[in-house]
Amino acid sequence: MSELGLGENDRLFILTGAGISAESGLATFRGSGGLWNGYRVEQVATPEAWEADPELVWRFYSMRRRDAMAAEPNAAHRALAALEQKSGDRLYLCTQNVDDLHERGGSQRVHHMHGSLFESRCVRCQERFTDRAFYEKAAALPVCATCGAPVRPHIVWFGEIPLNMEEIYAHLATSTHVLVVGTSGSVYPAAGFVQIANQRGLKTIYVGPEEPLNAEAFDTIFLGNATEVLPSFLR
Ligand code: APR
Repeated sequence: MSELGLGENDRLFILTGAGISAESGLATFRGSGGLWNGYRVEQVATPEAWEADPELVWRFYSMRRRDAMAAEPNAAHRALAALEQKSGDRLYLCTQNVDDLHERGGSQRVHHMHGSLFESRCVRCQERFTDRAFYEKAAALPVCATCGAPVRPHIVWFGEIPLNMEEIYAHLATSTHVLVVGTSGSVYPAAGFVQIANQRGLKTIYVGPEEPLNAEAFDTIFLGNATEVLPSFLR
């Protein structure tokens, strides 16, 4: 990726958000047409929402799972997968997205810090459900085959701690470059990664059609859609 100025010994930390899947037809969260215009966070994406109406919450994620399954990875997902092939373990891909388009676009190692639409867990015994057939047969509110307790989406809701933060910070600490794609910079801790990187003197780059809220922490901002900007980086 010549625009990134990556050298032999450099290491790249990538953070992606809903914008990278926008051109695959998946709604982002904020802005016109965003999911949070049609749904209230407090009704579908908090532990309190789950307590109040688990069936509504399950329905919300089932809808999103169906949308994700119907979507196809785009040129931006594929460009990052190609970069991984060239860079090996010098590249760490962390996504806030709960879809599987990075994986279907060819990325081998993806850390889903906000969980996955294709994983659920028993609220009592913590058994994981990752088999897609589980969702085809799932009731309006599935229960755990082992202990009978409700099964919840393995999604990090507002008020919960993102997954494997230690691993993320360890990769940030050893990276030389941070590339952020398609995230508004409004949800922490992810929005703070670039600020940490900036303070440590890493090279920081943003790709998206508009400036994110944390724009001041980026050295370079490429305004444009992910499918246009990322593949041209690779050429
Ligand atoms: N290419 C790149 N970026 C795009 C594109 C595109 N084609 N289209 C839109 N974007 C950008 C928007 O400009 C916006 O900055 O994607 C960003 C989407 O922002 P949000 O909707 O806020 O999504 P995100 O930042 O991923 O949200 C973070 O919020 O509700 C939570 O848990 C949810 O992980 C999510 C978190």
